[in-house]
Amino acid sequence: MGKFATQVIRWQKQSGRHDLPWQGTRDPFRIWVSEIMLQQTQVSAVIDYYERFMQRFPTVEALATASLDDVMPYWAGLGYYARARNLHKAAVIIQTEQGGRFPRTFLDVLALPGIGRSTAAAICAFAYGESRPILDGNVKRVFARRFGVEGDVRAKPVEEEMWRLAEREVPKQDIEAYIQGLMDLGATVCTRSSPTCLLCPLSRDCVAHQEGRTAELPGRSAKRDVPHRETAMLVLRHGVEVLLERRPPTGIWGGLWSLPEVTLETDALAHASARFGVATTRGRRPKPLNAVDHGFTHYSLTIHPLEISVASVSAAAREPGHVWLTIEDALGAAIPAPVKRILSALD
Ligand code: ADE
Repeated sequence: MGKFATQVIRWQKQSGRHDLPWQGTRDPFRIWVSEIMLQQTQVSAVIDYYERFMQRFPTVEALATASLDDVMPYWAGLGYYARARNLHKAAVIIQTEQGGRFPRTFLDVLALPGIGRSTAAAICAFAYGESRPILDGNVKRVFARRFGVEGDVRAKPVEEEMWRLAEREVPKQDIEAYIQGLMDLGATVCTRSSPTCLLCPLSRDCVAHQEGRTAELPGRSAKRDVPHRETAMLVLRHGVEVLLERRPPTGIWGGLWSLPEVTLETDALAHASARFGVATTRGRRPKPLNAVDHGFTHYSLTIHPLEISVASVSAAAREPGHVWLTIEDALGAAIPAPVKRILSALD
């Protein structure tokens, strides 16, 4: 086994994380769910979601026989909702086409929706003890620094070079500790800013550390300018109740409950009475609340909430796709994180 893998494994056993709720099992279902939740999401944000999810959907069968509407509330707030849709879709495929048995080979795991090369390798390592390289965002950072890989790690040729390195270093034994060690190092020691090289088992051989270039590696091309969008949301209030509207099944937050969205140009009062039939107090202007920012992968969004007090609740709530809920119940529903922030700030 190479020096790199040896150092990673020894460090993981001594100093890595050992008591995460998805560790200490070989159940591929439990491991799969954890790996999907952990894509682009920190361990600390995942733990509670993971435990609630596993309690409600402990097996492939439980997930496959639930409807997507049953599943989404367990994902609300975690972001990247395509993950939940793919997870459910894959469970249905396993249940209906594969006899309910989680796939046993790497290629069959890779063929499921929502699972790429690195995730399939992690699942097969943790569930079946199989040795294959992984390469997620954190691990790319570890490799780029340790081996001095230049260039933007998201660029195809650089990524291909990284996969070759990852292939070269992967050990035949102790793959679980190796993979977990790479993830733990990337998340806790070799962090994007101010890495704690003093605690790193790789620092003596680390190109970035030795050359004082941890701030420059991994390289990035000029920060991609993501487009910015602004939108308004109506907070229709009747006492302690607010009106929620279901988002269409596709698009951002597909299928989640949200506040009704309107363009910035919309006359909010006219819209509220025309669309939802609510009676507003005459002469009362909508009250602008603090704007909330949210970052998506492909754009950033600023939401301007407008609070409108209504004198009576309307027939709108009886239409499908709309519901009046107390603020407290709304906070417990399947709502996106920025909507939760708006509702939490209401007095
Ligand atoms: N990120 C992706 N998979 C992980 C895991 N199993 N443990 C910690 N962080 C992770």
